Amino acid sequence: MKTIKTISISVLSISILFLAGCPRQLQYQGMLGFPNYPKHTEAEPFTFAVAGDSQGTFTQINKEVLWRVMDDIQFRDSNTAFTVVTGDMIHGSSDSQVAMRAMQEWQEIVTSHFHAPIVPVCGNHEIQTEKTQEVYRQLFGSHVPQNGPEDERGLSYYFDYNRCRFIVIDTAFYGDMYRVRHIDWLENVIKTARPAGVNHIFVFGHIPAWPVAHIKNSLPNAANAINGETSSLDATRRFWNLLKEYRVDAYFCGHEHVYARQNVGGVWQINTCSAGAGLGTINPGYPGTGASQKAKDAFEANKPYYEILGYPTGAGSNGQAGTQFVGASVFNYVLVDVLSSGVRLRMYGVKETDSLGLNFELMDQFELSPVPVK
Ligand SMILES: [Fe+2]
Repeated sequence: MKTIKTISISVLSISILFLAGCPRQLQYQGMLGFPNYPKHTEAEPFTFAVAGDSQGTFTQINKEVLWRVMDDIQFRDSNTAFTVVTGDMIHGSSDSQVAMRAMQEWQEIVTSHFHAPIVPVCGNHEIQTEKTQEVYRQLFGSHVPQNGPEDERGLSYYFDYNRCRFIVIDTAFYGDMYRVRHIDWLENVIKTARPAGVNHIFVFGHIPAWPVAHIKNSLPNAANAINGETSSLDATRRFWNLLKEYRVDAYFCGHEHVYARQNVGGVWQINTCSAGAGLGTINPGYPGTGASQKAKDAFEANKPYYEILGYPTGAGSNGQAGTQFVGASVFNYVLVDVLSSGVRLRMYGVKETDSLGLNFELMDQFELSPVPVK
């Protein structure tokens, strides 16, 4: 049954009519920004989506896959509350006019294929110069809560929805990428959640804390660590200890163009991308990747980097930071069901070779969190 709702968005100072429960062939009028609902309503079951990395290989945006991802999300669950997009929406450019046009086009595609808010996370592809960072702030950052650290306003922020706290961190700040730059701000936002009645905490960034393939290219910055410059590694360890200490449910990220989930010391890292970017491969320490000899040789050559981050690399190991690892080199998105019995994650994916049909199917499902602590 079709329903019509009105949501007032104070940041935009406008009201937008949107349709929920529509058949998929309808065009939707979605919105940028965040769901500006009351902070602490009763905890009712709801679903949100996460997708990332829709940049094209030779174009700014892989439109074909992006719009199918957005269509499929609401085809699976027409009441999806919002979608978090974990960065690298466009290929990007050092020319701020080119970057601006690409970001505007991305917004047009997504808001015309999805009915609910889009919660944006900044990626490295959007931020190629200081100017394009400002373009991002203008086009995306102005639609989100302005409650982040002073120099990351519009890039890092948080909001509460249905007794869950959603925290977005910027890991691609121009000139200081691959780092959680404001750990004290993050700690304050996390530690005030439970006393405020929050049941679940979800953190989102673009760059993985625990890379599944590109060992040198992530928050711990193994390339620097191996040379004795361990500030990023130390910051990442502090970041992850914080998530563990306050029982954060999961860290969602993008960047590596695969689906991968693993539990690292009690906290899940969910790498959910790509929504169009050329697919990556998981390191061949994980069995069944079908890795080429070249990839296997690269894994062997990079073992010192894996070892410095504490990854198991011996026989019978999974070559990853955590346990319960499942990964796949597929276009994908995830639906997260926040239920009274806990949190469930569903991953829908499609192989690149099936891209003409793009028939997404359920490829992974697991219980992400137990019953919330009261
Ligand atoms: Fe990236």
